[in-house]
Amino acid sequence: MSKIKPSKGAPYARILGVGGYRPTRVVPNEVILETIDSSDEWIRSRSGIVTRHWASDEETVAMMSIEASGKAIADAGITPEQIGAVIVSTVSHFKQTPAVATEIAHKIGAGKPAAFDISAGCAGFGYGLTLAKGMIVEGSAEHVLVIGVERLSDLTDLEDRATAFLFGDGAGAVVVGPSQEPAIGPTVWGSEGDKSETIKQTVSWNELHIGDVSKLPLDSKGEIKFPAITQEGQAVFRWAVYEMAKVAQQALDAAGISPEDLDVFIPHQANMRIIDSMVKTLKLPEHVTVARDIESTGNTSAASIPLAMERLLATGQAKSGDTALVIGFGAGLVYAATVVTLP
Ligand SMILES: CC(C)(COP(=O)(O)OP(=O)(O)OC[C@H]1O[C@@H](n2cnc3c(N)ncnc32)[C@H](O)[C@@H]1OP(=O)(O)O)[C@@H](O)C(=O)NCCC(=O)NCCS
Repeated sequence: MSKIKPSKGAPYARILGVGGYRPTRVVPNEVILETIDSSDEWIRSRSGIVTRHWASDEETVAMMSIEASGKAIADAGITPEQIGAVIVSTVSHFKQTPAVATEIAHKIGAGKPAAFDISAGCAGFGYGLTLAKGMIVEGSAEHVLVIGVERLSDLTDLEDRATAFLFGDGAGAVVVGPSQEPAIGPTVWGSEGDKSETIKQTVSWNELHIGDVSKLPLDSKGEIKFPAITQEGQAVFRWAVYEMAKVAQQALDAAGISPEDLDVFIPHQANMRIIDSMVKTLKLPEHVTVARDIESTGNTSAASIPLAMERLLATGQAKSGDTALVIGFGAGLVYAATVVTLP
């Protein structure tokens, strides 16, 4: 018989508040056309993107996260001291250690919570949410701050026709806390590492600094290119359209929710055509509000789902208590889908 006392958590968890931060600079497609041979019409029709936000030097990963977190904490109606853990999902924080989560935790006045970063690409929000739910139900934290934040403009090759128009910057945050009823469904998640080459950083930091310079990519002026995100667009597109609709359906089934029960669909904002295709495959009824934040935000990876959630609530397109299906997918390849009650 074990002498260890069991940990005691809440019966269930729910998202209590959401907040977002979008950098001040709005970048229209015209700016992208300065460095690639394309057209506003092509970018709009193939991706759905019209504008995106790019961060200034002052709009760091930490700064954007702190802004989004402040709003999420206020929206949740708690104080920063009540945060027991901070999880930051990002692929674009360039300092390997310490985790940016500790700086954010300190600067929002959260005291001494557990704080760590995770890397799960565009599925990062769902990964963080799943960890937060587990921590609350298990009892290691009462309130968990989950942040998705990216400065993808730093990792964008503006001369790459396949990606230059896709990415944006921003931060989205949610506070997850205890609940007396289920408000975050079972997560359907996974990875397909055999496809890890389809979305990746062009060169590693090691290769950049100590590697064979003759093998490094050069820009049109002959200068060594800073590492950037590259992808096999069509392969990723097909995977997202065919495989992710199945994962979304599994998350609905796991939560016992039919398309008719659903109020809101918040997929990762990667491409408007992927969103449209998923809506069709899942046979979502007309009454379901679909997040189409990509038009003015671009693909902000880990930040895309909480940013879209915040905007739907702020504009009245969705309301507190609505049932929403969220699904993220991207580099890894990784994915995570679940059904949540909106804060
Ligand atoms: C990137 C993406 C928008 C490109 O759209 P696409 O329809 O697949 O485009 P393709 O690469 O098949 O190219 C189609 C044509 O457009 C051309 N093209 C490619 N990029 C172009 C650009 N920026 N402007 C104009 N034409 C372009 C190609 O040369 C090709 O021309 P061709 O038919 O004469 O050979 C799309 O593949 C995509 O969104 N992929 C998935 C992105 C994603 O989900 N990422 C997840 C990251 S989390």
